[in-house]
Amino acid sequence: MKLWGGRFRKETDGLVNDFNASIQFDARLYREDIEGSLAHAEMLASCGIISQEDHAQIKAGLEGILADVEAGKVEFTAANEDIHMNVEALLTGRIGEAGKRLHTARSRNDQVAVDLRLYLRREIGEIMEQILSLQQAILDQARQHQNTVMPGYTHLQRAQPVSFAQHLLAYGEQLRRDVTRLADCKKRMNVCPLGSGALAGTTYPIDRHQTARLLGFDGPCSNSLDGVSDRDYALELLSDLSILMMHLSRLAEEVILWCSWEFKFIELDDAYSTGSSIMPQKKNPDVAELVRGKTGRVYGDLMGLLTTMKGIPLAYNKDMQEDKEPVFDAVDTVKMCLPVFTGMLETMRVLPENMRRAAGGGFINATDCADYLTKKGMPFRDAYTAVGNLVYYCAQHGKLLEELELPELQSISTLFDEDVYQALRLENCMGQRKSYGGPAVEETTRQIEELAQFIKDARAGAPAEDGV
Ligand code: ARG
Repeated sequence: MKLWGGRFRKETDGLVNDFNASIQFDARLYREDIEGSLAHAEMLASCGIISQEDHAQIKAGLEGILADVEAGKVEFTAANEDIHMNVEALLTGRIGEAGKRLHTARSRNDQVAVDLRLYLRREIGEIMEQILSLQQAILDQARQHQNTVMPGYTHLQRAQPVSFAQHLLAYGEQLRRDVTRLADCKKRMNVCPLGSGALAGTTYPIDRHQTARLLGFDGPCSNSLDGVSDRDYALELLSDLSILMMHLSRLAEEVILWCSWEFKFIELDDAYSTGSSIMPQKKNPDVAELVRGKTGRVYGDLMGLLTTMKGIPLAYNKDMQEDKEPVFDAVDTVKMCLPVFTGMLETMRVLPENMRRAAGGGFINATDCADYLTKKGMPFRDAYTAVGNLVYYCAQHGKLLEELELPELQSISTLFDEDVYQALRLENCMGQRKSYGGPAVEETTRQIEELAQFIKDARAGAPAEDGV
Protein backbone atom coordinates (compact mmCIF):
# COMPACT_ATOMS: atom_id res chain seq x y z
CA MET A 1 0.00 0.00 0.00
CA LYS A 2 1.04 3.58 -0.65
CA LEU A 3 2.27 5.75 2.23
CA TRP A 4 -0.75 7.92 1.43
CA GLY A 5 -3.02 4.90 0.78
CA GLY A 6 -5.40 5.41 3.72
CA ARG A 7 -7.91 7.51 1.85
CA PHE A 8 -8.01 5.20 -1.15
CA ARG A 9 -9.90 1.98 -1.81
CA LYS A 10 -8.36 1.08 -5.14
CA GLU A 11 -4.81 0.49 -6.32
CA THR A 12 -3.29 3.23 -8.46
CA ASP A 13 -3.49 2.42 -12.15
CA GLY A 14 -0.15 1.20 -13.44
CA LEU A 15 -0.03 3.98 -16.02
CA VAL A 16 -0.67 6.60 -13.37
CA ASN A 17 2.01 5.10 -11.16
CA ASP A 18 4.59 5.51 -13.88
CA PHE A 19 3.29 8.87 -14.98
CA ASN A 20 3.26 10.29 -11.48
CA ALA A 21 6.58 8.93 -10.32
CA SER A 22 9.70 11.05 -10.26
CA ILE A 23 12.07 8.50 -8.76
CA GLN A 24 13.66 7.91 -12.20
CA PHE A 25 15.17 11.37 -12.00
CA ASP A 26 14.97 12.51 -8.38
CA ALA A 27 16.87 9.46 -7.05
CA ARG A 28 19.96 11.62 -7.40
CA LEU A 29 18.70 13.69 -4.46
CA TYR A 30 19.08 10.77 -2.05
CA ARG A 31 21.95 12.32 -0.14
CA GLU A 32 20.23 15.67 0.36
CA ASP A 33 16.97 13.95 1.23
CA ILE A 34 18.66 11.96 3.98
CA GLU A 35 20.60 15.00 5.17
CA GLY A 36 17.35 16.93 5.43
CA SER A 37 15.66 14.10 7.31
CA LEU A 38 18.56 13.80 9.74
CA ALA A 39 18.28 17.51 10.58
CA HIS A 40 14.50 17.31 10.85
CA ALA A 41 14.65 14.31 13.21
CA GLU A 42 17.29 15.96 15.39
CA MET A 43 15.14 19.07 15.66
CA LEU A 44 12.00 17.04 16.45
CA ALA A 45 13.87 15.33 19.28
CA SER A 46 15.38 18.47 20.73
CA CYS A 47 11.95 20.14 20.68
CA GLY A 48 10.48 17.13 22.49
CA ILE A 49 8.22 16.20 19.56
CA ILE A 50 9.74 12.71 19.22
CA SER A 51 11.68 10.81 21.87
CA GLN A 52 15.46 10.60 22.00
CA GLU A 53 15.18 6.83 21.45
CA ASP A 54 13.16 7.31 18.29
CA HIS A 55 15.68 9.88 17.13
CA ALA A 56 18.57 7.52 17.75
CA GLN A 57 16.85 4.81 15.71
CA ILE A 58 15.93 7.18 12.90
CA LYS A 59 19.46 8.51 12.74
CA ALA A 60 21.04 5.06 12.63
CA GLY A 61 18.45 3.91 10.11
CA LEU A 62 19.01 6.85 7.78
CA GLU A 63 22.77 6.54 8.01
CA GLY A 64 22.46 2.86 7.13
CA ILE A 65 20.31 3.69 4.12
CA LEU A 66 22.79 6.31 2.97
CA ALA A 67 25.67 3.85 3.20
CA ASP A 68 23.67 1.20 1.36
CA VAL A 69 22.60 3.57 -1.43
CA GLU A 70 26.19 4.60 -1.86
CA ALA A 71 27.28 0.99 -1.99
CA GLY A 72 24.70 0.35 -4.71
CA LYS A 73 22.72 -1.99 -2.47
CA VAL A 74 19.38 -0.19 -2.63
CA GLU A 75 16.74 -0.39 -5.33
CA PHE A 76 14.23 2.43 -5.44
CA THR A 77 10.77 1.69 -6.84
CA ALA A 78 8.29 3.70 -8.86
CA ALA A 79 5.59 2.31 -6.59
CA ASN A 80 7.01 4.60 -3.92
CA GLU A 81 6.83 7.50 -6.34
CA ASP A 82 9.73 9.73 -5.41
CA ILE A 83 12.96 9.83 -3.45
CA HIS A 84 11.22 11.15 -0.34
CA MET A 85 8.76 8.29 -0.05
CA ASN A 86 11.33 5.73 -1.12
CA VAL A 87 13.64 6.73 1.71
CA GLU A 88 10.80 6.87 4.21
CA ALA A 89 9.48 3.47 3.16
CA LEU A 90 12.96 1.98 3.41
CA LEU A 91 13.40 3.49 6.85
CA THR A 92 10.11 2.19 8.15
CA GLY A 93 10.89 -1.21 6.66
CA ARG A 94 14.13 -1.23 8.58
CA ILE A 95 13.26 0.31 11.96
CA GLY A 96 9.45 0.04 12.18
CA GLU A 97 7.48 2.38 14.47
CA ALA A 98 10.14 5.07 14.89
CA GLY A 99 10.42 5.41 11.11
CA LYS A 100 6.76 6.29 10.92
CA ARG A 101 7.31 9.24 13.25
CA LEU A 102 9.87 10.96 10.99
CA HIS A 103 7.26 12.66 8.86
CA THR A 104 5.76 14.49 11.85
CA ALA A 105 5.48 18.24 11.17
CA ARG A 106 6.80 17.83 7.65
CA SER A 107 5.51 17.42 4.12
CA ARG A 108 7.08 16.31 0.89
CA ASN A 109 6.49 19.85 -0.25
CA ASP A 110 9.01 21.36 2.14
CA GLN A 111 11.17 18.27 1.80
CA VAL A 112 11.58 18.57 -1.96
CA ALA A 113 12.23 22.29 -1.68
CA VAL A 114 14.98 21.76 0.86
CA ASP A 115 16.51 18.86 -1.08
CA LEU A 116 16.75 20.86 -4.27
CA ARG A 117 18.30 23.85 -2.56
CA LEU A 118 20.89 21.65 -0.86
CA TYR A 119 21.66 19.88 -4.11
CA LEU A 120 21.98 23.00 -6.22
CA ARG A 121 24.03 24.76 -3.58
CA ARG A 122 26.63 22.02 -3.85
CA GLU A 123 26.52 21.91 -7.64
CA ILE A 124 27.02 25.67 -7.83
CA GLY A 125 30.21 25.27 -5.82
CA GLU A 126 31.49 22.67 -8.26
CA ILE A 127 30.60 24.72 -11.31
CA MET A 128 32.36 27.74 -9.84
CA GLU A 129 35.48 25.61 -9.37
CA GLN A 130 35.31 24.53 -12.99
CA ILE A 131 34.98 28.09 -14.22
CA LEU A 132 38.03 29.05 -12.19
CA SER A 133 40.01 26.31 -13.95
CA LEU A 134 38.89 27.65 -17.30
CA GLN A 135 39.95 31.13 -16.24
CA GLN A 136 43.31 29.70 -15.26
CA ALA A 137 43.71 28.24 -18.76
CA ILE A 138 42.84 31.63 -20.24
CA LEU A 139 45.32 33.29 -17.95
CA ASP A 140 48.11 30.88 -18.90
CA GLN A 141 47.56 31.50 -22.61
CA ALA A 142 47.26 35.25 -22.07
CA ARG A 143 50.58 35.37 -20.22
CA GLN A 144 52.31 33.99 -23.31
CA HIS A 145 50.67 36.34 -25.78
CA GLN A 146 50.87 39.85 -24.43
CA ASN A 147 52.98 40.83 -27.43
CA THR A 148 51.06 38.79 -29.97
CA VAL A 149 49.42 41.37 -32.22
CA MET A 150 46.10 40.34 -33.72
CA PRO A 151 43.38 42.25 -35.48
CA GLY A 152 40.57 43.34 -33.19
CA TYR A 153 37.23 43.17 -34.99
CA THR A 154 33.94 44.98 -35.03
CA HIS A 155 31.26 43.65 -37.39
CA LEU A 156 33.84 40.90 -38.03
CA GLN A 157 35.75 43.53 -40.01
CA ARG A 158 39.32 44.29 -39.03
CA ALA A 159 39.14 47.32 -36.77
CA GLN A 160 42.11 48.12 -34.52
CA PRO A 161 45.10 46.15 -33.30
CA VAL A 162 44.82 44.27 -30.02
CA SER A 163 46.88 41.51 -28.49
CA PHE A 164 45.76 37.92 -28.27
CA ALA A 165 46.21 38.29 -24.51
CA GLN A 166 43.75 41.15 -24.34
CA HIS A 167 41.25 39.30 -26.47
CA LEU A 168 41.38 36.26 -24.19
CA LEU A 169 41.30 38.38 -21.07
CA ALA A 170 38.00 39.84 -22.20
CA TYR A 171 36.56 36.35 -21.76
CA GLY A 172 38.37 36.12 -18.45
CA GLU A 173 36.37 39.15 -17.30
CA GLN A 174 33.10 37.71 -18.56
CA LEU A 175 33.73 34.48 -16.70
CA ARG A 176 34.63 36.47 -13.61
CA ARG A 177 31.15 37.96 -13.64
CA ASP A 178 29.74 34.47 -14.16
CA VAL A 179 31.48 33.31 -11.00
CA THR A 180 30.20 36.26 -8.98
CA ARG A 181 26.71 35.79 -10.39
CA LEU A 182 26.75 32.17 -9.22
CA ALA A 183 28.08 33.20 -5.81
CA ASP A 184 25.23 35.66 -5.59
CA CYS A 185 22.68 33.04 -6.65
CA LYS A 186 24.05 30.63 -4.06
CA LYS A 187 23.70 33.23 -1.37
CA ARG A 188 20.07 34.01 -2.23
CA MET A 189 19.30 30.30 -2.49
CA ASN A 190 20.71 29.65 0.93
CA VAL A 191 17.54 29.95 3.02
CA CYS A 192 15.75 26.94 4.40
CA PRO A 193 12.14 26.03 3.52
CA LEU A 194 12.06 23.05 5.93
CA GLY A 195 9.25 23.47 8.43
CA SER A 196 6.99 25.19 5.91
CA GLY A 197 5.09 21.91 5.97
CA ALA A 198 2.66 21.29 3.15
CA LEU A 199 2.03 25.03 2.91
CA ALA A 200 0.77 26.39 6.22
CA GLY A 201 3.49 25.54 8.69
CA THR A 202 2.56 23.32 11.60
CA THR A 203 0.94 23.32 15.03
CA TYR A 204 3.98 21.53 16.50
CA PRO A 205 6.50 23.64 18.40
CA ILE A 206 9.24 23.12 15.80
CA ASP A 207 12.44 25.14 15.64
CA ARG A 208 13.01 26.17 12.06
CA HIS A 209 16.11 28.11 12.98
CA GLN A 210 17.69 24.94 14.28
CA THR A 211 17.11 22.93 11.09
CA ALA A 212 18.29 25.86 9.00
CA ARG A 213 21.46 26.01 11.07
CA LEU A 214 22.03 22.26 11.00
CA LEU A 215 21.82 22.27 7.21
CA GLY A 216 24.16 25.23 6.79
CA PHE A 217 21.50 27.68 5.64
CA ASP A 218 21.64 31.35 6.56
CA GLY A 219 18.19 31.06 8.14
CA PRO A 220 14.66 29.79 7.53
CA CYS A 221 12.59 31.32 4.76
CA SER A 222 10.16 33.76 6.20
CA ASN A 223 6.81 32.67 4.73
CA SER A 224 5.72 29.04 4.60
CA LEU A 225 3.63 29.48 1.44
CA ASP A 226 6.57 31.04 -0.31
CA GLY A 227 8.90 28.36 1.04
CA VAL A 228 7.10 25.54 -0.77
CA SER A 229 5.92 27.48 -3.81
CA ASP A 230 8.75 29.21 -5.50
CA ARG A 231 11.46 27.83 -7.70
CA ASP A 232 13.02 31.17 -8.44
CA TYR A 233 16.36 29.93 -7.12
CA ALA A 234 16.34 27.20 -9.79
CA LEU A 235 15.38 29.76 -12.42
CA GLU A 236 18.07 32.13 -11.24
CA LEU A 237 20.61 29.37 -11.54
CA LEU A 238 19.35 28.45 -15.01
CA SER A 239 19.62 32.09 -16.01
CA ASP A 240 23.17 32.29 -14.72
CA LEU A 241 24.06 29.07 -16.50
CA SER A 242 22.48 30.36 -19.70
CA ILE A 243 24.60 33.50 -19.55
CA LEU A 244 27.68 31.40 -18.81
CA MET A 245 26.92 29.16 -21.80
CA MET A 246 26.40 32.24 -23.97
CA HIS A 247 29.94 33.32 -23.08
CA LEU A 248 31.34 29.86 -23.77
CA SER A 249 29.43 29.74 -27.02
CA ARG A 250 30.88 33.01 -28.24
CA LEU A 251 34.39 31.88 -27.47
CA ALA A 252 33.58 28.54 -29.08
CA GLU A 253 32.47 30.36 -32.21
CA GLU A 254 35.74 32.29 -32.29
CA VAL A 255 37.76 29.12 -31.81
CA ILE A 256 35.88 27.61 -34.74
CA LEU A 257 36.65 30.65 -36.88
CA TRP A 258 40.26 30.84 -35.73
CA CYS A 259 41.05 27.27 -36.67
CA SER A 260 39.48 27.57 -40.12
CA TRP A 261 41.89 27.84 -43.05
CA GLU A 262 40.53 31.34 -43.63
CA PHE A 263 41.93 32.53 -40.29
CA LYS A 264 44.42 29.89 -39.09
CA PHE A 265 45.12 31.84 -35.90
CA ILE A 266 45.24 28.65 -33.87
CA GLU A 267 45.49 24.96 -34.28
CA LEU A 268 43.59 22.67 -31.95
CA ASP A 269 45.41 19.75 -30.45
CA ASP A 270 44.76 16.37 -32.09
CA ALA A 271 43.36 15.14 -28.79
CA TYR A 272 40.72 17.88 -28.93
CA SER A 273 39.77 17.56 -32.60
CA THR A 274 37.91 15.00 -34.62
CA GLY A 275 38.11 13.64 -38.15
CA SER A 276 35.71 13.07 -40.97
CA SER A 277 34.48 9.67 -42.12
CA ILE A 278 35.02 10.57 -45.77
CA MET A 279 37.37 13.56 -46.09
CA PRO A 280 40.85 12.43 -45.06
CA GLN A 281 42.20 15.94 -44.61
CA LYS A 282 39.60 17.10 -42.09
CA LYS A 283 40.35 18.15 -38.55
CA ASN A 284 37.14 19.43 -37.06
CA PRO A 285 36.55 21.55 -33.96
CA ASP A 286 33.72 19.34 -32.69
CA VAL A 287 34.31 20.24 -29.05
CA ALA A 288 33.76 23.93 -29.70
CA GLU A 289 30.77 23.20 -31.94
CA LEU A 290 29.15 21.00 -29.32
CA VAL A 291 29.60 23.61 -26.64
CA ARG A 292 27.97 26.12 -28.98
CA GLY A 293 25.20 23.62 -29.69
CA LYS A 294 24.61 22.65 -26.07
CA THR A 295 24.07 26.29 -25.25
CA GLY A 296 20.68 25.90 -26.92
CA ARG A 297 19.87 23.06 -24.57
CA VAL A 298 20.58 25.13 -21.48
CA TYR A 299 18.50 28.03 -22.82
CA GLY A 300 15.74 25.47 -23.46
CA ASP A 301 15.96 24.29 -19.85
CA LEU A 302 15.50 27.87 -18.68
CA MET A 303 12.59 28.56 -21.02
CA GLY A 304 10.95 25.26 -20.12
CA LEU A 305 10.97 25.89 -16.40
CA LEU A 306 9.94 29.53 -16.76
CA THR A 307 6.95 28.32 -18.74
CA THR A 308 6.11 25.57 -16.25
CA MET A 309 6.09 28.06 -13.40
CA LYS A 310 4.24 30.91 -15.02
CA GLY A 311 0.64 29.93 -14.41
CA ILE A 312 0.51 27.94 -11.21
CA PRO A 313 -1.29 29.29 -8.17
CA LEU A 314 0.21 29.10 -4.69
CA ALA A 315 1.19 26.82 -3.11
CA TYR A 316 2.62 23.47 -4.26
CA ASN A 317 1.29 22.00 -7.50
CA LYS A 318 2.48 18.81 -9.10
CA ASP A 319 3.61 20.79 -12.14
CA MET A 320 6.59 21.70 -10.02
CA GLN A 321 7.90 18.16 -10.17
CA GLU A 322 8.89 19.20 -13.70
CA ASP A 323 11.54 21.50 -12.21
CA LYS A 324 14.09 18.79 -11.72
CA GLU A 325 14.90 17.47 -15.15
CA PRO A 326 15.71 20.85 -16.72
CA VAL A 327 17.82 21.90 -13.76
CA PHE A 328 19.66 18.60 -13.70
CA ASP A 329 20.13 18.71 -17.45
CA ALA A 330 21.55 22.22 -17.35
CA VAL A 331 23.87 21.43 -14.46
CA ASP A 332 25.06 18.21 -16.14
CA THR A 333 25.55 19.96 -19.47
CA VAL A 334 27.55 22.84 -18.02
CA LYS A 335 29.64 20.47 -15.94
CA MET A 336 30.42 18.46 -19.05
CA CYS A 337 31.23 21.50 -21.19
CA LEU A 338 33.54 23.37 -18.84
CA PRO A 339 36.35 20.83 -18.36
CA VAL A 340 36.51 19.82 -22.01
CA PHE A 341 36.52 23.46 -23.06
CA THR A 342 39.34 24.12 -20.60
CA GLY A 343 41.36 21.24 -22.01
CA MET A 344 40.81 22.50 -25.54
CA LEU A 345 42.13 25.98 -24.64
CA GLU A 346 45.05 24.64 -22.63
CA THR A 347 46.27 22.51 -25.52
CA MET A 348 45.54 24.76 -28.51
CA ARG A 349 48.56 26.00 -30.43
CA VAL A 350 48.55 29.72 -31.13
CA LEU A 351 50.00 30.88 -34.47
CA PRO A 352 51.20 34.46 -33.84
CA GLU A 353 52.66 34.93 -37.32
CA ASN A 354 49.27 34.34 -38.89
CA MET A 355 47.60 36.73 -36.49
CA ARG A 356 50.27 39.33 -37.26
CA ARG A 357 49.83 38.81 -40.99
CA ALA A 358 46.07 39.27 -40.73
CA ALA A 359 46.60 42.40 -38.65
CA GLY A 360 48.83 43.75 -41.44
CA GLY A 361 45.92 43.99 -43.86
CA GLY A 362 42.66 45.87 -43.59
CA PHE A 363 44.16 49.25 -42.61
CA ILE A 364 43.78 48.59 -38.89
CA ASN A 365 46.27 51.40 -38.22
CA ALA A 366 43.99 53.99 -39.85
CA THR A 367 42.77 55.34 -36.50
CA ASP A 368 46.39 55.64 -35.39
CA CYS A 369 47.14 57.58 -38.56
CA ALA A 370 44.31 59.99 -37.77
CA ASP A 371 45.52 60.23 -34.16
CA TYR A 372 48.99 61.10 -35.50
CA LEU A 373 47.62 64.11 -37.37
CA THR A 374 45.44 65.08 -34.41
CA LYS A 375 48.43 65.05 -32.09
CA LYS A 376 50.12 67.44 -34.55
CA GLY A 377 47.25 69.85 -34.18
CA MET A 378 44.63 68.91 -36.75
CA PRO A 379 41.08 68.56 -35.34
CA PHE A 380 40.20 64.86 -35.13
CA ARG A 381 37.23 65.08 -37.50
CA ASP A 382 39.45 66.66 -40.22
CA ALA A 383 42.15 64.07 -39.59
CA TYR A 384 39.52 61.33 -39.91
CA THR A 385 38.50 62.65 -43.34
CA ALA A 386 42.11 63.04 -44.47
CA VAL A 387 42.94 59.46 -43.55
CA GLY A 388 39.71 58.26 -45.15
CA ASN A 389 40.98 59.81 -48.38
CA LEU A 390 44.37 58.15 -47.88
CA VAL A 391 42.74 54.74 -47.39
CA TYR A 392 40.76 55.27 -50.56
CA TYR A 393 43.98 56.20 -52.38
CA CYS A 394 45.73 53.11 -50.96
CA ALA A 395 42.89 50.82 -51.99
CA GLN A 396 43.10 52.24 -55.53
CA HIS A 397 46.86 51.69 -55.70
CA GLY A 398 47.08 48.40 -53.83
CA LYS A 399 49.18 49.85 -51.02
CA LEU A 400 49.13 49.92 -47.24
CA LEU A 401 49.25 53.22 -45.34
CA GLU A 402 52.81 52.53 -44.20
CA GLU A 403 53.84 51.80 -47.80
CA LEU A 404 53.00 55.32 -49.01
CA GLU A 405 55.95 57.61 -49.75
CA LEU A 406 56.25 60.71 -47.61
CA PRO A 407 55.35 63.01 -50.56
CA GLU A 408 52.20 60.97 -51.17
CA LEU A 409 51.25 61.42 -47.53
CA GLN A 410 52.15 65.09 -47.59
CA SER A 411 49.92 65.66 -50.59
CA ILE A 412 47.08 65.01 -48.15
CA SER A 413 48.54 66.89 -45.19
CA THR A 414 51.81 68.71 -44.68
CA LEU A 415 51.71 67.62 -41.04
CA PHE A 416 53.04 64.19 -42.09
CA ASP A 417 56.71 63.68 -41.30
CA GLU A 418 59.23 60.80 -41.14
CA ASP A 419 58.01 59.84 -37.66
CA VAL A 420 54.66 58.74 -39.15
CA TYR A 421 56.20 55.39 -40.11
CA GLN A 422 56.89 54.62 -36.46
CA ALA A 423 53.38 55.69 -35.55
CA LEU A 424 51.95 53.31 -38.13
CA ARG A 425 53.90 50.24 -37.02
CA LEU A 426 51.33 47.82 -35.64
CA GLU A 427 53.47 46.94 -32.64
CA ASN A 428 53.47 50.63 -31.71
CA CYS A 429 49.78 51.05 -32.49
CA MET A 430 49.03 48.28 -30.04
CA GLY A 431 51.77 49.10 -27.55
CA GLN A 432 50.77 52.76 -27.29
CA ARG A 433 47.19 51.93 -26.40
CA LYS A 434 47.96 52.31 -22.74
CA SER A 435 44.63 53.70 -21.68
CA TYR A 436 43.07 51.82 -18.76
CA GLY A 437 41.83 48.47 -20.06
CA GLY A 438 43.72 48.75 -23.34
CA PRO A 439 45.92 46.18 -25.11
CA ALA A 440 49.34 47.67 -24.18
CA VAL A 441 51.53 45.24 -22.26
CA GLU A 442 51.37 47.39 -19.11
CA GLU A 443 47.61 47.11 -19.16
CA THR A 444 47.34 43.41 -19.97
CA THR A 445 49.82 42.84 -17.15
CA ARG A 446 47.47 44.63 -14.78
CA GLN A 447 44.51 42.62 -16.07
CA ILE A 448 46.44 39.38 -15.70
CA GLU A 449 47.40 40.22 -12.13
CA GLU A 450 43.82 41.09 -11.24
CA LEU A 451 42.44 37.92 -12.73
CA ALA A 452 45.10 35.82 -11.01
CA GLN A 453 44.19 37.45 -7.70
CA PHE A 454 40.51 36.83 -8.32
CA ILE A 455 41.12 33.13 -8.99
CA LYS A 456 43.25 32.89 -5.86
CA ASP A 457 40.67 34.60 -3.66
CA ALA A 458 37.81 32.59 -5.11
CA ARG A 459 39.66 29.32 -4.61
CA ALA A 460 40.28 30.36 -1.01
CA GLY A 461 36.49 30.54 -0.73
CA ALA A 462 35.96 34.24 -1.01
CA PRO A 463 34.75 35.10 -4.49
CA ALA A 464 34.01 38.79 -4.64
CA GLU A 465 30.27 39.19 -4.42
CA ASP A 466 30.15 42.72 -5.67
CA GLY A 467 29.58 41.62 -9.25
CA VAL A 468 32.84 43.20 -10.46
N1 ARG B 1 8.03 14.32 -6.22
C1 ARG B 1 7.49 15.59 -5.83
C2 ARG B 1 8.20 16.71 -6.58
O1 ARG B 1 9.24 16.46 -7.07
C3 ARG B 1 7.63 15.79 -4.37
C4 ARG B 1 6.60 16.63 -3.75
C5 ARG B 1 5.30 15.98 -3.89
N2 ARG B 1 4.31 16.56 -3.09
C6 ARG B 1 3.02 16.25 -3.26
N3 ARG B 1 2.19 16.76 -2.47
N4 ARG B 1 2.62 15.46 -4.23
O2 ARG B 1 7.72 17.81 -6.68
